[in-house]
Amino acid sequence: FIPPKAAGSGGGVTAKDELGNSVTATGWLATHKEGDRSLVQGLKGDPTYLLVEGGEAIGDYGINAICTHLGCVVPWNSGANRFICPCHGSQYDATGKVVRGPAPLSLALAHVSVENDNVFLSPWTETDFRTGEKAWWA
Ligand code: FES
Repeated sequence: FIPPKAAGSGGGVTAKDELGNSVTATGWLATHKEGDRSLVQGLKGDPTYLLVEGGEAIGDYGINAICTHLGCVVPWNSGANRFICPCHGSQYDATGKVVRGPAPLSLALAHVSVENDNVFLSPWTETDFRTGEKAWWA
């Protein structure tokens, strides 16, 4: 028996793909290349970007795709190296930090961990490393 990651980490979930299947690290890395930012279903069912970093590893944080302006899902634009909201043009850098309004805040973060090849997301309640401020979403 393997206790779910959620025990002790306050409401973690396994990342799910668009079909509702649990995401595995090997499966994800086989189909997503370095620099990729693609969506999984994360905490509370929110669309959340997993990051593929150098060395073909899944980054240890995920980025919530819900725009902090009025809640549109923000697509990743690899050419611009930014997330650009189609609704009113807000922009976020590759870490999800807001760089252009009207969005007032950066995209929310979640912790990402890989255990037994399963990809887990858990709440990020610490300081936002992009701003040095308290996590506004926690
Ligand atoms: Fe994204 Fe308005 S909802 S800019």
